[in-house]
Amino acid sequence: MSTPPTPARLVVLVSGAGTNLQALLDACEDPAYGARVVGVGSDRPGVEGLARAERHGVPTFVKQLGQFDTRDHWDLAMRRAVAGFEPDLVVLAGFMKLVSEEFLAEFPGRVVNTHPALSPSFPGTRGPADALEHGVKVTGATLFVVDGGVDTGPIVAQVAVPVADDDDVDSLHERIKAAERAMLVDAVGRIAREGLSVEGRKVRFGAPTT
Ligand code: GRF
Repeated sequence: MSTPPTPARLVVLVSGAGTNLQALLDACEDPAYGARVVGVGSDRPGVEGLARAERHGVPTFVKQLGQFDTRDHWDLAMRRAVAGFEPDLVVLAGFMKLVSEEFLAEFPGRVVNTHPALSPSFPGTRGPADALEHGVKVTGATLFVVDGGVDTGPIVAQVAVPVADDDDVDSLHERIKAAERAMLVDAVGRIAREGLSVEGRKVRFGAPTT
């Protein structure tokens, strides 16, 4: 009998409701998914994302920017806390802060972020609002490997979502989030089971060929 592979260790960072985190926690209940959430961190105390982790018995930590002298010190504390969980993959899921180049260097090619727009359109924190204002008929969500920019990294997965004539920002964002959660669960599972290869801007599931 062969030994089942060790599940990939996920650390998830959140700033709010944590429904994307919840989708990952639920997926990880199935051993065949190939991953488990070993830690959840936030820049904000008391958010529902942290409560979701606690209900699943997953250790949590909070590092608030305002509690540090400088942004560098905050970033270092985040990085140390994340590294302490020895993650195979760091998932930014509704984490509303940018991390530094030093943070990314600590987990090279292993930090992914989910964004509620079809990159490269509408980067930043107002993805659904900007899509609505622009009048696009289709928007969506993007999972990407984080680089030094704002929502600019190599694209791992995308899902398209139609914009309805009577959408407001909330209704559109909720429809995006439903699709986003499914995309995230699918893509993170594939990264855990197959690996990820990034060559320039091209991302493929599976081990690097060179
Ligand atoms: C998601 O749409 C994420 O892409 C965006 O904020 C939302 C977070 O949702 N940055 P949740 O906290 O996972 O419910």
